[in-house]
Amino acid sequence: MNSRLPLIAGNWKMFKTGPEAAAAARELAREVAGAQAVEVMIAPPFTALEAVHAALQGSAIALGAQNTHWEDSGAFTGEIAPPMLKAAGCRFVIIGHSERRQLFGEDDRGVNRKVHAVRRHGMVPVVCVGETEAQRDAGQTFSVLDKQLRLGLENIALGNPLDVVVAYEPVWAIGTGKTASDHQAQEVHDRIRRLLAELLGADLAAGVRILYGGSVKPGNVAGLMAMPDIDGALVGGASLDPQTFARIMRFRS
Ligand code: 13P
Repeated sequence: MNSRLPLIAGNWKMFKTGPEAAAAARELAREVAGAQAVEVMIAPPFTALEAVHAALQGSAIALGAQNTHWEDSGAFTGEIAPPMLKAAGCRFVIIGHSERRQLFGEDDRGVNRKVHAVRRHGMVPVVCVGETEAQRDAGQTFSVLDKQLRLGLENIALGNPLDVVVAYEPVWAIGTGKTASDHQAQEVHDRIRRLLAELLGADLAAGVRILYGGSVKPGNVAGLMAMPDIDGALVGGASLDPQTFARIMRFRS
């Protein structure tokens, strides 16, 4: 048993308009009452942040964004800055999701700049790492994660372990229906925590929440959450339907 409060996070990716997202958030706010000793976060598209923030008033569900720029403002057409996310009510910001790395050319240096920017504005970065299928097959899983975390978290000073979240999302398990087995995931989470101990110190590393992501569903979440170093889930497809996501956040029952 560990004392870390589980975090169940929904990444809505490029799904739902503002009104659709607000309706789903209202439904989740009703459902979350039945979920015990768990923190819940949803990350809708930028255009839905304010509507979802309003819909979540009075509920314990936290709001997250899916990306950010690293500057506070400037001539960066099409980008969104951390103070804008903060003002929209975000507590978390997902950084370095594999879709951003693979489809939009994000690299570890950019991830690091974004992590610093999010911290500067008092929000919590959810730093995503994970290997591709080819990297796993080549036995490179740990070296890939090592590099992603060392560079992504470079020069991050934490006062509190809750100020950063790491999400392990094996790229081959995202949206594919292939989940890492509980033990495969635990092996990697254990390795990540040991690396965090090296980077942040053992005391802080013991409190950092490490989420698993990749085809998490109501049927597999309990097994994953029973692992000693899996502290939550970053859920894509199965977070879009409020009733399905509610079953995931009630993983204990
Ligand atoms: P799926 O749950 O759809 O596999 O997506 C995982 C993910 O990318 C969450 O960020």
